[in-house]
Amino acid sequence: MENRYTWRHKDLLDVVQLSLDDVEHLLNTAQQFYEINARPVKKVPTLKGRSVVLLFIEASTRTKTSFDMAGKRLSADTFALAKSGSSMQKGETLKDTALTLQAMNPDVIVIRHSSSGAAQFLAQRLNCAVVNAGDGWHAHPTQALLDAFTLRQRWENRFAGKKALILGDIAHSRVARSNVHLLAKLGVRVRLCAPRTLLPRGVEDWPAEVYTDIDAAVRDMDAVMCLRLQLERQQAGLLPSLAEYSARYCLTRRHMESAAPGALILHPGPMNRGLEIASDIADSPESVVLDQVSSGVAVRMAVLFLHATRNEA
Ligand code: CP
Repeated sequence: MENRYTWRHKDLLDVVQLSLDDVEHLLNTAQQFYEINARPVKKVPTLKGRSVVLLFIEASTRTKTSFDMAGKRLSADTFALAKSGSSMQKGETLKDTALTLQAMNPDVIVIRHSSSGAAQFLAQRLNCAVVNAGDGWHAHPTQALLDAFTLRQRWENRFAGKKALILGDIAHSRVARSNVHLLAKLGVRVRLCAPRTLLPRGVEDWPAEVYTDIDAAVRDMDAVMCLRLQLERQQAGLLPSLAEYSARYCLTRRHMESAAPGALILHPGPMNRGLEIASDIADSPESVVLDQVSSGVAVRMAVLFLHATRNEA
């Protein structure tokens, strides 16, 4: 039967906009690029002549580099702009910066910004595709997609019946917000665990069970995703001390002994070793932290490809 699927989204702002068909199509597309990334020559002409702007107004290693690499491997021209060195330092607004970039006729603008809603703000004003590379506490859709891609590879394409724990600073985490929705959409039973002060308001409405006791939360999990303690986004007084946080919520070998056999360990990075994840756990055979990074290039190739070519038959 003819496959009539077409990617209809101008922008990628959050995983909640995606149907299950969209997610499966995107992950299948990423799988093809993942195989290309394993070849000695990784460049394909798919997006030759297209332009991708990387507008990163907040620090990034993984997301920025992998979007840049993804664009280049597809033969697109990529242009990176940070706040430092741009006219935003002279007070130019985000809106004027984006309209200026759009006047150069790019196909995709990838934006990271510390304000929730920044990607949507641009998407409403620009004709080109806007891809959210992380906005404040709101969403990090490509992180959730690359995490799902990583789990799908290890779980041989079966999500139903799997159980995953997201552990740590849920309140300030766009990674948690995107992952909880995507994993639940894929049929994974999700648990969240954090001290009460690091659980967001309204968490009871998220598609997940909520815990404050790590020993109870980790039991029988097929995957545990640790989150970075986002010290730069926290108000004073949310934690008694970092030492106390680490003593109660740092994922250790002892915790993993009660998880399901072969349970996977994820972390979006950058990691605070010894604070939210023990170093030996981060480097253990069960850790897929670096697989997540490799998946990120393939998933971002798929995201750029689908958005840059969405109007083509
Ligand atoms: N996981 C993630 O977004 O990492 P970077 O901040 O390094 O891009």
